Amino acid sequence: MKLAPSILSADFAHLADDIEVVAAGGADLLHVDVMDGHFVANLTFGPGMVAAIRPVTNLPLDVHMMVSDPARWIPAFAQAGADTLLIHAEATPHLYGALQQVRAAGCRPGVVINPGTTVASIEAVLPIVDQVLVMTVNPGFGGQRFIPAMAAKVAQLAALRQQLGLSYEIEVDGGITTATAPVVLEAGADILVAGSFVYAAPDPAAQLAKLRRVAR
Ligand code: DX5
Ligand code: ZN
Repeated sequence: MKLAPSILSADFAHLADDIEVVAAGGADLLHVDVMDGHFVANLTFGPGMVAAIRPVTNLPLDVHMMVSDPARWIPAFAQAGADTLLIHAEATPHLYGALQQVRAAGCRPGVVINPGTTVASIEAVLPIVDQVLVMTVNPGFGGQRFIPAMAAKVAQLAALRQQLGLSYEIEVDGGITTATAPVVLEAGADILVAGSFVYAAPDPAAQLAKLRRVAR
């Protein structure tokens, strides 16, 4: 199991410190929530933020692109130092092509599905992705409540992976806490994104340790 703290809930005025704290606390990835105010109703970071973070950490950067027309931004995020680029299935009619572009740009391609999007709708791209992200809240904001019904998609993706002989990692994002993590881990999740659970607490490293403990 990998832990991917989301800097969406970090203190933006002390971002390097907040990254260091989770890196020292055993984070496996750093999740960066990119929002364009169009695909979702919030605005956050662009490629400049990824470029600024890149030299301050060795953690792989897991870039969640909540943007319309994601293909347009692939070169800039790849150039900025993103490791994984996560593309929403709902954001483009050219999902397969966008994922191919991510690979060609030298990054790991990941596909993301909103709560209203089915696993069946992304079956055709599963062979070309390294990661599948199941949203367990509606994207746009941290601190929302986990939607339990999404665990079934995780189980479905785990079964499909075995059936099709694939090796993508299954990631979940939204409302992950020590209470909800067991549900998705039981269903087969490999990567847990956690924002407010980690950063809204006084000791983010202790929060990561708690998540680690429920995983065992
Ligand atoms: C929501 C973002 C998440 C967010 C999760 O749109 O994709 O990554 O940071 O925050 P929590 O863990 O607070 O639900
Ligand atoms: Zn995210």
